[in-house]
Amino acid sequence: MPKEPTKPHYLLCNADESEPGTFKDRELIRWDPHQLLEGCLIAAYAIRAKHVYVYCRGEFFETTQILAKALEDAYAKGYAGKDIMGSGVDVDVTVHVGAGAYICGEETGLMNSLEGRRGQPRVKPPFPAAVGAFGMPSTVNNVETLSAVPHIVTHGGQWYRQWGTEKSPGTKLFCVSGHVNKPGNYELPLGFPLTDLIEDVCGGMRGGKALKAVIPGGSSVPILNAEECAGCALDYEGVQAAGSQLGCASVIVMDEGTDIVKQVRRMVQFYMHESCGQCTPCREGTAWMTKVLRRIEEGHRNRCDITNEKAGDHVGDRARYDDRLDGHDAVVELGPHFFDHEENSRERGVECSREPSACACCDERVDHGLRQSKHIDECLPDRGSYLNRGPFASHQQTRPER
Ligand SMILES: Cc1cc2nc3c(=O)[nH]c(=O)nc-3n(C[C@H](O)[C@H](O)[C@H](O)COP(=O)(O)O)c2cc1C
Ligand code: SF4
Repeated sequence: MPKEPTKPHYLLCNADESEPGTFKDRELIRWDPHQLLEGCLIAAYAIRAKHVYVYCRGEFFETTQILAKALEDAYAKGYAGKDIMGSGVDVDVTVHVGAGAYICGEETGLMNSLEGRRGQPRVKPPFPAAVGAFGMPSTVNNVETLSAVPHIVTHGGQWYRQWGTEKSPGTKLFCVSGHVNKPGNYELPLGFPLTDLIEDVCGGMRGGKALKAVIPGGSSVPILNAEECAGCALDYEGVQAAGSQLGCASVIVMDEGTDIVKQVRRMVQFYMHESCGQCTPCREGTAWMTKVLRRIEEGHRNRCDITNEKAGDHVGDRARYDDRLDGHDAVVELGPHFFDHEENSRERGVECSREPSACACCDERVDHGLRQSKHIDECLPDRGSYLNRGPFASHQQTRPER
């Protein structure tokens, strides 16, 4: 943020909380709205902002009402508004309610929405600290961040650093959901072991089942399998070393009975629905990935879908090169290392609903999906022509003389 306030500065509190698996901000507001308001006022003072906007997700009806009432009380007591407690400092706070769109949680999408435009992320740079809400320098912080401010100001930075690790100091609210005995919000020091979170804090796996996978940071980060979870420390570096990201620390736990393909399909479908539509790879890619994953889920996977999974990487890569860059890319990286396993399970256990059809080379009747693809690989060693030219028709064109 510019040091000299030649223009108005804004503080934006992000209370959109729409990442699947995240449910901490609404609880912080519900149970202690004044803690957040105090944090907002201190942070606004620090960056010389005279106005704070708290952007609340549209569906948070009760939470927003609680916050609005707390704000009314704060104004009545002189803790907010003009000349706060005779200090000569003016800070106004506005509670703004969105219309309930995932992408408005992204800071620049939030700003567009706040300004009354479509909630679509902006190209960066310029970054919000230079050109933010209403074209003015702005800082965006999450509810959890701002709620921690009064405590850090009261006790000091060193006090806060007594928890966590050197590189990731402090505490984090972990939203744990899924197949554990005691799901919920838990405030723990950063660096806490993931297995201890599941076993000790959350009472272990539901029904004594084995752990299959964990999404450690909300639905837009890669899935960790059970092996990767063992020894994973829940801080920014630890989760990255394990192959994922801590993100918003929403830990989704899945047991051995979970169908990973289905889970990934549901998440991709969510991102398809929530895509703001600006970027073609995201708009088209998430829709196609949903279709492909649905086919795999239902046991109708075909040879093209193997290529389409690779296309998933392409969607991710394109989104990464896009300046807007948001969570939609990561979802396609979710579970490549699960797919073979899941696909084999399907081969063993889940019957394809379509009738087997005769192979054009050897007349053997083979099932659709992966079994058909495998059969073609064995029956037709020169599968280059098949892959290059497409589905079964090309296979027939290249069948050997008998
Ligand atoms: C697609 C997308 C969705 C996001 N949704 C949220 C959200 O719902 N709430 C939130 O606080 N931050 C969300 N963020 C992160 C914000 O852009 C921003 O980085 C964050 O509010 C900064 O807060 P912090 O630095 O205090 O954690 C999202 C980011 C992306 C890319
Ligand atoms: S990646 Fe998707 S959600 Fe993000 S800006 Fe592009 S189209 Fe919108």
